[in-house]
Amino acid sequence: MTNPDFRIFPSASATTDAVAAHLAARLAAQPAIRLGLATGNTFVPVYAALVEHYRAGGLSFAQACSFNLDEYVGLPPGHVASFRAYMQSHLFDHVDLPEGHGHLPAVEGDIELACRNYEAAIAAAGGIDLQLLGIGRNGHIGFNEPGSAFDSRTRQVDLTPSTQEANKADFPAGETVPPTAVTMGIGTILEAREIVLVAIGATKAEALQTAFRGKQTPACPASALQMHAKVLVFCDEAAASLVRAD
Ligand code: F6R
Repeated sequence: MTNPDFRIFPSASATTDAVAAHLAARLAAQPAIRLGLATGNTFVPVYAALVEHYRAGGLSFAQACSFNLDEYVGLPPGHVASFRAYMQSHLFDHVDLPEGHGHLPAVEGDIELACRNYEAAIAAAGGIDLQLLGIGRNGHIGFNEPGSAFDSRTRQVDLTPSTQEANKADFPAGETVPPTAVTMGIGTILEAREIVLVAIGATKAEALQTAFRGKQTPACPASALQMHAKVLVFCDEAAASLVRAD
C-alpha cells in the first residue's frame, strides 16, 4: 500500500462513519484486538457510530483492551473535561469492554514511574494493533507538540498555548486548560502495527499537507508517520484540499 493510504470522503459524517465501520470490521476480525484510542471532537461521532455498530449486534469488546493516547495532569478524578470522563461517556459506558481493560495514562503520584508502567503495560499486552490518531492544527499527534523527538516515549509534556486554546471549549466556564498532560510518545505511537489518522475540516488542511507532503521534521510531529509502513488517513474533502492540490 502507498503511505499514507488516503481515504477521502465528501462530508464529515461520511468520514467518521467510515472510520467506525473500519474499527468495527477490525474488531470483528480480531476480537482480542489491542486498540490505541484518541479523544477530541473528531472522535465524538466516530465513537457514537461505533456504539451503533455494537448495538446492532454481533460485535463484542469482551476480549479487547485499549490504551488511550493522553490525559491531562492536575484535574480531579472524574473531572468532566478529563479524557477518562470522555472515554466513559462516549464509548466505555456503552459497550461490553470489561472494567479495567480501558487504560488511560495515570496522572497522579510518581508520574515518571507511571509513564514507564504505561509503556510496560502496552508491551505486556503485546503492543497496539490499531492506533487511532487525530491531528492538531499545529501538527501534534497525541499531545506530542512541535519539537517532540520522533523517538519520544510516554512522558509528561507542556501544552502549547494554541492547544490550550483549541481545547478550552471542553472546560466549564471559568476553568482553564491544564498546562501539562501525559502523552504516549511519538516512538510509542510508531510501534503500533496500524495507524488510522482522522482529520475533519479546513482547519486541518495545512497540518495534513505539512505532515504528509512536507519533509519529516519534529516541527510537525505528524510527519513522523511518513516512516510508518501502514498509515490510513480518513479525511473529508475540506481537510484533504491542500493534499489534493499537490
Ligand atoms: C486527543 C489527542 C489530540 C487530538 C487533536 C485533535 O487524544 O491526542 O492529538 O486528536 O488535538 O483534536 P480535535 O479532534 O478536537 O480537533
